[in-house]
Amino acid sequence: MTILILGGAGRTGTRIHDRLTARGVPTRLASRRTGFDWDRPDTWPAALHGTTAAYVCFTPDLGFPGVPEKMGALGRAAAAAGLERLVLLSGRGEEGARASEAALREGGVPTAVLRCSWFQQNFSEHFLTGPVRRGRLLLPAPDVPEAFVDVDDVADAAVEALTRTDPGDATYELSGPELLTFTQVAAALSDAGGRRVVFEAVDVPTFVADLAADGIPAEEAEPLGYLFTEILDGRNASLGTGVEQLLGRPASSFGAYATATALRGVWS
Ligand SMILES: NC(=O)c1ccc[n+]([C@@H]2O[C@H](COP(=O)([O-])OP(=O)(O)OC[C@H]3O[C@@H](n4cnc5c(N)ncnc54)[C@H](OP(=O)(O)O)[C@@H]3O)[C@@H](O)[C@H]2O)c1
Repeated sequence: MTILILGGAGRTGTRIHDRLTARGVPTRLASRRTGFDWDRPDTWPAALHGTTAAYVCFTPDLGFPGVPEKMGALGRAAAAAGLERLVLLSGRGEEGARASEAALREGGVPTAVLRCSWFQQNFSEHFLTGPVRRGRLLLPAPDVPEAFVDVDDVADAAVEALTRTDPGDATYELSGPELLTFTQVAAALSDAGGRRVVFEAVDVPTFVADLAADGIPAEEAEPLGYLFTEILDGRNASLGTGVEQLLGRPASSFGAYATATALRGVWS
């Protein structure tokens, strides 16, 4: 049993790799640095060959144009390679992502979809680390509630879905245990880090310019900005039960994440 981790160098992939390795489950990490490229289907069969299951993490986003076609091709390639299950990382409230989920399933391999809320770690391992350090959380979104999920919960849930004895098609909505507006998030970050962080709703060009200060190129920031103007409208202002369903325990809170992250000195 070897589990393929697509996007294995990323935030969720590395955590899943560590958990499976600790359990003694053989893994194969795949991303461009190992020769697997989403833009080159000729690189896919070598990654899939000899594996029994795969974690599918597409970057930058499942909802972007052309991605459902890629997911359809991957589902067929996984079936041809004899894989017995797939676990797909997806996002909540994204119409385009729904098409990618359906396309992946067309190959016929039993697939668990993990539809996740915004990651808590966006504020410490991703594009919002710099804005938190500057004390100004500039986002192209109104002050809507979100149910921020801990990436460690996502990784635990993915490992459970990859290794449970009863695969089969299922969809899980993964969130944290509470709804928080960006103003409330800024307050929690201020409390945890001991320095004031404020939230400001801005337009996409201002968001892109702010991220440029951290070296994030406009080609990366702009599509994210426009995605946020679409999905951060309150449509995901509900709690998901996926963490409890898969792990039999409550999801981890934003406050616990913020306190632990501040103690590591990430925002100092
Ligand atoms: N952030 C959120 O709040 C959130 C919420 C819900 C869902 N999601 C979804 O989570 C996914 C991202 O997950 P993540 O944060 O774990 O990933 P990540 O940290 O962004 O990294 C994924 C890895 O993908 C690899 N990669 C990039 N381009 C590639 C390409 N063309 N071909 C092959 N590999 C490529 C990169 O490694 P190499 O450089 O080696 O290629 C990268 O390390 C996205 O689909 C996003 O929509 C995110």
